[in-house]
Amino acid sequence: MKTPSTSRKTTVGEVDSAILEFTAGDDVRWDQRLVEADCIGSAAHAVMLSRMPLRPPLFQPADARRIVRQLVILLRKARQGRFIITLEDQDVHLAVERALTRALGPLGKKIHTARSRNDQVAVDLRLYAKDQLLGVSLEAAALAEALLRLAVRHERTPMVGRTHMQPAMPSSVGLWASAHAESLLDDMLAVDHAYRLNDQCPLGSAAGYGVPLPIDRALVSDLLGFERPCHNVLYAGNARGKVESVVLGALVQLMLTLSRLAQDLILFTMPEFNYFALPPAFCTGSSIMPQKKNPDVLELVRARASRVAAHYFAVVDLLKGAPSGYNRDLQEAKAPFLEGLATTRSCLAVTKRVVDGLQVNPGALRDGFTADVFAADRALELAGQGVPFRDAYHRVKADLAALERLNPDQALRAKKHLGGPGGLRLAMLKGRARRVLQETRRKRRKYYAALSRLLGVSYPDL
Ligand code: ARG
Repeated sequence: MKTPSTSRKTTVGEVDSAILEFTAGDDVRWDQRLVEADCIGSAAHAVMLSRMPLRPPLFQPADARRIVRQLVILLRKARQGRFIITLEDQDVHLAVERALTRALGPLGKKIHTARSRNDQVAVDLRLYAKDQLLGVSLEAAALAEALLRLAVRHERTPMVGRTHMQPAMPSSVGLWASAHAESLLDDMLAVDHAYRLNDQCPLGSAAGYGVPLPIDRALVSDLLGFERPCHNVLYAGNARGKVESVVLGALVQLMLTLSRLAQDLILFTMPEFNYFALPPAFCTGSSIMPQKKNPDVLELVRARASRVAAHYFAVVDLLKGAPSGYNRDLQEAKAPFLEGLATTRSCLAVTKRVVDGLQVNPGALRDGFTADVFAADRALELAGQGVPFRDAYHRVKADLAALERLNPDQALRAKKHLGGPGGLRLAMLKGRARRVLQETRRKRRKYYAALSRLLGVSYPDL
């Protein structure tokens, strides 16, 4: 039987309804998140076009100002949820062109001169990522600071250190909490690398092969607050997906840190441990067991680390074997990318609430110390007195029952070397977190100042 075919009229031709739904249905919904970036990119493009040395000029600076003003109106509409991309638009790019043409007539029809949706979507994603990564850095640094505050409050609160999850050696809450903080600070190096890779402007690369018009790609890059333009126009398009995967790779590292922290807390808040407790309002109950206080929030942070990792693999797998030049496959990197960013940010924010609210039970932490936790310390003490370490080890091992349950406070104080439980030097890590915050705020001020200049209104408030 022949399938009845209906078709829909789009800005760029008639498309079969089922094919349109298949190719653009989901994507239109994801593009809804890119409206702001698309308007900003279009504003820079319009300003650049008005300065293009053509005789007669494509349009006047006053025309560019009209376009930019209209784009600001669209931005405001989008913020209120009133800018809707339809299936007939196919994507955010043609939706913005439609809206501009409706408001400005022939002027709107000129906006697509010297660009393609390929460089447009690439710049949208980079603008979006730039803002999001600044948010990620601020949130990760805020979480690192929260962990460091916990570490300072409990710098010398004894806690059994574990390997293989078995009791190992004397440790402290300060060492445990600041380990997670330092992990976040290292993850931020990966975030910074991703930020720098992303901070290059692909606009003007058009379909990947340049345009026979005297465009100024460096100007567009400056107007948008990018560090520099992507150089090679083919690579500017090929880098789509690469940027997303590098960003997701950095997010995966953050999520791995969060998932380990969540796993530790799930374990140490079990009644059998009772080292820590979550505020009651952070737990969810059971529909059948009245006594339950479940750490669902931590379980979901742990699970969402798997999701962000899956997003990373989804993008990497799309790229393997991808040919040069634009292919629609790249569209499929959008959802994992946007979701990966949103998921990571919500996990960072919720984990900070958990850390800020965490209750510490020093009594239960101390009760965890049995005599055998001091076995390695005892062997090392003998080694320090000149007994060859292997002999000391065997001497202690031969008579574990004779080990005394020593004072954990003293054991902590004895490890004052760099980074040890008695030598945490938390101020150094606090300095690293503060520098990330300051540097990120500085970058964001600079970025928003560039966008405010471009749009002629204060950004982000509009
Ligand atoms: N929705 C498309 C994407 O995300 C936009 C670019 C379409 N380009 C094209 N040549 N069909 O990739």
